[in-house]
Amino acid sequence: MKIASLRKEYSSNLLEINKVDPNPLVQFKSWMEASIEDGVLEPNAMHLATVTSDNRPSSRIVLLKGIDHGFVFFTNYESKKSKELQANPFASLTFFWAQMERQVRIEGFVEKVSVEESDDYFLSRPLESQIGAWTSPQSEEIPDRAFLEKRKQEVEQRFASEELRRPPHWGGFRLLADKVEFWQGGPARLHDRILYSLSPSGTWQLKRLAP
Ligand SMILES: Cc1cc2nc3c(=O)[nH]c(=O)nc-3n(C[C@H](O)[C@H](O)[C@H](O)COP(=O)(O)O)c2cc1C
Repeated sequence: MKIASLRKEYSSNLLEINKVDPNPLVQFKSWMEASIEDGVLEPNAMHLATVTSDNRPSSRIVLLKGIDHGFVFFTNYESKKSKELQANPFASLTFFWAQMERQVRIEGFVEKVSVEESDDYFLSRPLESQIGAWTSPQSEEIPDRAFLEKRKQEVEQRFASEELRRPPHWGGFRLLADKVEFWQGGPARLHDRILYSLSPSGTWQLKRLAP
């Protein structure tokens, strides 16, 4: 296998600074809709990068579950990522939609969503996922798979006679962006990059970056 010789020529759409929406959240929604329409696999999967207490980057994939004035995802509040976010709320998100030849990079800080939002989303999830949220002590070391199976049985027994509600240690974060960059692959490695930066007055400034 020759990884070094893997090469894809990008072609299709050029990105013009005077044709994108002045608001990056609106622009993002239109790219997300295009990815969904084009059948991109898991278009809402994104890399979430956080910072550890000793200033090391730390990243993993999570699923985007909503866009309003920020980017919303859900997780275990006692997980590694959540502990990092609670100590240092700065984070970044990266989407790569290969078949669209597009990348979006988002930087900002997170806040917890309201308990009502977490409750609403939790209750909308399939039963298996709800039980999973109670079962898994996310990011902790566990002895084996049997440990999880046993915990799952215990959770199922408990909630056979009790209403299944959101675990207090599970909920959402919203990332509020102050930088959003849209990247569109172009011919001859001359890709388009448009960076939106939030100014202190609250308006978005756009610039084109070299690829
Ligand atoms: C496609 C995909 C989607 C995922 N979605 C989530 C998610 O929405 N929330 C979550 O907590 N973990 C999600 N995970 C698992 C995380 O990548 C990660 O393993 C887990 O959250 C523990 O990360 P941490 O130890 O850094 O906190 C997903 C993984 C993949 C591959």
